[in-house]
Amino acid sequence: SDSELEERVRDVKRRMGDRLYLPGHHYQKDEVIQFANDRGDSLKLAQLSADNHKAEAIVFCGVHFMAETADILTKDTQHVYLPDMRAGCSMADMADIEQTEAAWKQLQDLFGETILPLTYVNSTAAIKAFVGKHGGATVTSSNAERMVQWAFSKKERILFLPDQHLGRNTAFNLGIPLDEMAVWDPIHQELIATRPLEEIKVILWKGHCSVHENFTVANVHEVRSSSPDMKIIVHPECRREVVALADDAGSTNHIIKTIEAAPKGSSWAIGTEMNLVNRLIQENPDKHIVSLNKNMCPCLTMNRIDLPHLTWCLESIEKGTPHNRIIVEDSIATDAKLALNRMLQRA
Ligand code: 13P
Ligand code: SF4
Repeated sequence: SDSELEERVRDVKRRMGDRLYLPGHHYQKDEVIQFANDRGDSLKLAQLSADNHKAEAIVFCGVHFMAETADILTKDTQHVYLPDMRAGCSMADMADIEQTEAAWKQLQDLFGETILPLTYVNSTAAIKAFVGKHGGATVTSSNAERMVQWAFSKKERILFLPDQHLGRNTAFNLGIPLDEMAVWDPIHQELIATRPLEEIKVILWKGHCSVHENFTVANVHEVRSSSPDMKIIVHPECRREVVALADDAGSTNHIIKTIEAAPKGSSWAIGTEMNLVNRLIQENPDKHIVSLNKNMCPCLTMNRIDLPHLTWCLESIEKGTPHNRIIVEDSIATDAKLALNRMLQRA
């Protein structure tokens, strides 16, 4: 039963003490997040993992790219585990390294040495290594503007991987017109641009988050007509049209802070992952909160981390026969760390 599994998790945590660290992303299920030593968005969890020198084992309650990031930042000191190896991220899988190398070759032919690559942390370690090797950096949703500005201080144009929406929303906020952004289609290996190439400032990789794309312009119109006083806040992984119509947009951290600081009695429709929206509803009973899409939008891969997998993984570590260790090869980790450190120095 759940209560028996909860007891087993508590027991392992008690016996292992500081030797064990459980970072938990805000999109994790309640049954898992209740055991997290720290909750956070991807930036905070990357920083906390890098700063934790006590734990021998980091059991990452999040998705695969987050555990890889933790391994890259903590190599040689801690071992990182992911309770279910199937907890991937469909967005990260939309940019593989072969596609990226091929795209880079063609983009170099078109634009020469004028491009700096940036990648959202929601990407594989190999993509981070590619970016690091070419002088670029990682970004998260909470520092994307600062990092894009940094990139433009180095080069004339950027390649933004793998989320076209975060890239477009960030560049737009910095005053770059939409038609100065082109889209790289990795399937057809072609650049889609509406202006002459010399005027293109941003090349957006054609990837997206399958959770945040579920929030639509129609959802915004429904809320506006049924509840005119309701404020709409969305994550910048949502499409440009949705962000443009919302009252506010920002990272997971920004959404949480905004809702916590909102006046009593205020009404909010939130465009982000279901577990976080449900938690905000529970933790803010003095506010009226709904999901922008009435059907609620779960991240199925985040949800693969559940109580049975967590228990199984923790007990295996305690017994000394650990399951699901995440190991990023040294050759990849070295370059990936360059990209992560360029971001963490500016975070
Ligand atoms: P943040 O935690 O950086 O807001 O990212 C959201 C997300 O989709 C994580 O997978
Ligand atoms: Fe990936 Fe989107 Fe899930 Fe985040 S919410 S892990 S970006 S699929």
